Amino acid sequence: MSTSNEPVSFPAGLEGVYVCNTTLSEVEGLEGRLIFNGFNAIDLAETRTFEEVWFVLREGRLPSQSELSTFVSQVEALSHLTLDEYKLVKKLRGGEPMSAFRSSLSAVANGRGFKSWMNRDKAVVAEEIMTLCALTPEIMEVLHTGRKPKLKAGNRGYADRYLWGILGKQPAEADLRALETYLILTVDHGLNASTFSSRVTVSTGADVGAALTAAVGTLSGPLHGGAPGPVLDMFDSIASVANVSNWVAEKMAAGHLFMGFGHRVYRTDDPRSLCLKRVAERQASPRIELAKAAEAEILAALAAKQQAKALAQNVPVRTLRVNVEFWTAVVLEHVGIPRTLFSSTFCASRMIGWGEHIREQIAGNKLYRPRSYYTGSKP
Ligand SMILES: CC(C)(COP(=O)(O)OP(=O)(O)OC[C@H]1O[C@@H](n2cnc3c(N)ncnc32)[C@H](O)[C@@H]1OP(=O)(O)O)[C@@H](O)C(=O)NCCC(=O)NCCS
Repeated sequence: MSTSNEPVSFPAGLEGVYVCNTTLSEVEGLEGRLIFNGFNAIDLAETRTFEEVWFVLREGRLPSQSELSTFVSQVEALSHLTLDEYKLVKKLRGGEPMSAFRSSLSAVANGRGFKSWMNRDKAVVAEEIMTLCALTPEIMEVLHTGRKPKLKAGNRGYADRYLWGILGKQPAEADLRALETYLILTVDHGLNASTFSSRVTVSTGADVGAALTAAVGTLSGPLHGGAPGPVLDMFDSIASVANVSNWVAEKMAAGHLFMGFGHRVYRTDDPRSLCLKRVAERQASPRIELAKAAEAEILAALAAKQQAKALAQNVPVRTLRVNVEFWTAVVLEHVGIPRTLFSSTFCASRMIGWGEHIREQIAGNKLYRPRSYYTGSKP
């Protein structure tokens, strides 16, 4: 160990450091592949329901038809706020939707008396996690509308309840399927910052409400899941296909950071982005032509810049691609989700991933306690 108080070197942002084992998901950044508990995530997103994928995360296999209907009913049975909870959540409306959701989740968990998971039946703790996940669509509906959640007779599961609550009416089948594909694609993604946060919090023995609330707080930062709203702002600012070239040239010259481009882990196409682009093409959204033109122009401009930089510095070219947020913006706008709720929609999906990471952490818990290297003065 160093004895001076010169800073020691360590990977900034813990980049590349392994801190836990997981079976839940793997991001293969070089190959552009995402795996959910032994399954190709894109295949799941294109062919399965949200509940089927939730089951895959829990069990590592697809459910039989009867297991699926039991699971769907189990989640639905837990999905309703009590009248007192509705009144409480209603009082917490206003401000940033993610902040209001964070406060509501914490208040509901506390109101239900959730306690440390330590020395308690793991099945009861697992039900507490499932409860907070199942309640998420109704909490977000109340925060968005201020009204008691609508009755959604005959709803087709979590994605349907979420979209119905936000739109205030039963969604069209195509919109539901588009949203469900998005929710599946974003349900888990390795040890990103919010997932790590949920595992750190629950590792102290804190209740699962605290762990999920910590994760929501972490996700709310603009560096983590806040890009699709700004992507739409970018489309608004470009305004027309005819203006794409000039707009991009001007922004390149100013050293602009283009929202929806680049990724910390993927060094090839983000497979979620390719999948969502296919969804957007099927939707035939009015944004599609502008989005395609902007994508092509920005990619070409970034490639030219990266190539020139690599040549000048004699280093390999670092290619930048479109990330998941770019086509998310087009898809979510088309299904009718307001851009102020894009992060909340991401959160409604990721709640399930966090919940499963929390269960996994509890199953083999070790308190996270890294060290900081003191660089201050000696007394
Ligand atoms: C996602 C992101 C944070 C990844 O960051 P990263 O892996 O640390 O990438 P780097 O910052 O090392 O980028 C390498 C180079 O590409 C440039 N670059 C990366 N993303 C860029 C973008 N979206 N627009 C313009 N230039 C970009 C960087 O400026 C950097 O150039 P430099 O070497 O001259 O400084 C980054 O690409 C970004 O901020 N993208 C825009 C926001 C976004 O879409 N976020 C959603 C992520 S899913």
